[in-house]
Amino acid sequence: MKSLDDLIGEGVSGRTVLVRSDLNVPLDGDRITDDGRIRASVPTLRALLDAGARVVVTAHLGRPKGGPDPKYSLAPVAARLGELLGAEVTLAEHGDRARAAVSALDGADGRGGVVLLENIRFDPRETAKNDDDRAAFARELSELAGPSGAFVSDGFGVVHRKQASVYDVALDLPAYAGGLVLAEVEVLRKLTTEPERPYAVVLGGSKVSDKLAVIDALLPRVDALLVGGGMCFTFLAAQGYGVGDSLLERDQIDTCRRLLESGKIVLPVDVVVADDFSAEANTRTVAVDAIPDGWKGLDVGPDTVAAFAEVLGGARTVFWNGPMGVFELAPFAEGTRGVAQAIVDATAATPGAFSVVGGGDSAAAVRALGLPEDGFSHISTGGGASLEFLEGKDLPGIAVLEKS
Ligand code: 3PG
Repeated sequence: MKSLDDLIGEGVSGRTVLVRSDLNVPLDGDRITDDGRIRASVPTLRALLDAGARVVVTAHLGRPKGGPDPKYSLAPVAARLGELLGAEVTLAEHGDRARAAVSALDGADGRGGVVLLENIRFDPRETAKNDDDRAAFARELSELAGPSGAFVSDGFGVVHRKQASVYDVALDLPAYAGGLVLAEVEVLRKLTTEPERPYAVVLGGSKVSDKLAVIDALLPRVDALLVGGGMCFTFLAAQGYGVGDSLLERDQIDTCRRLLESGKIVLPVDVVVADDFSAEANTRTVAVDAIPDGWKGLDVGPDTVAAFAEVLGGARTVFWNGPMGVFELAPFAEGTRGVAQAIVDATAATPGAFSVVGGGDSAAAVRALGLPEDGFSHISTGGGASLEFLEGKDLPGIAVLEKS
């Protein structure tokens, strides 16, 4: 796999480089609530600008339904990227506007700033299942870079997607792995190739069905798998507990029973239940065998945090993906905070311990709850991508770089 350093070594001054970044950040209206992915994209873009490249960035935001939708505009992202990069970021729609903006770019020292194409998913060909449709769109993107152009894949969070700006452009242009993609792959490989034992994984999030493949792949490799979040209630139901109105996937109960036979799954012993899904709800902390009818579990309780902390305290490798509760609402944030803090403490207390936060919601939770980012060995920018990597799946956006 050729790298950003290889490209810079070849010389990029005056060349146009198309960069795929993952700038898919959470928004509250126009306000970015966590800019972690934008910050993570800056070093690669800065390195290209400093080397004199003319930089064109592609990125998506959310899942628009195959057409322009102002709700999914990258405008707030363009503004924040400009601040962090200290350079002008011109947001341009694909087509004539993008072509004009790219030809106005000044390659010398990046003084002309960068062009950020508007949400790449506004064109349905980006995510098309049909290879020809995607290839046609990728050709249009590659043409923006011109005959001496190059492609840098730096959006680790999307490398599991076989999409035009991630996969197909790498077939058209000389393709290189960006600094972020290389760093993420290097870290995650440590987890898949002989991680130091004991190896503990913490999984949360709402649905068991979304995590089944990764649980199946991880169980033979880990020493303990700690389960919290909405998905724990299907496991608790599989153990015969009543779960009240908590999230429950009935069709997954038998599967959970089978997974529990591994003897490695550690479940909550207490949960915070509420009479409504709201920050103003009445709440109680109850043992898992005493969840009242009509109440829903929205967080793990303090005894669970203590039990999980004990397992984590003895681990040399930890991977965490998925919040333990509805951390966005204050009454249900303590489980996620407590477990995250336990990982930070375990990382500090055990020399050589290695802890990875796997993307998306968990990375956002670390920052939203004010935990020290440098308390973890690595915070991945990829949620789905890091899980698929750990599952051992072939990631199209990486495989295509390995071929090029
Ligand atoms: C993510 O948020 O995990 C990435 O940006 C990928 O987004 P997607 O799941 O909509 O493809």
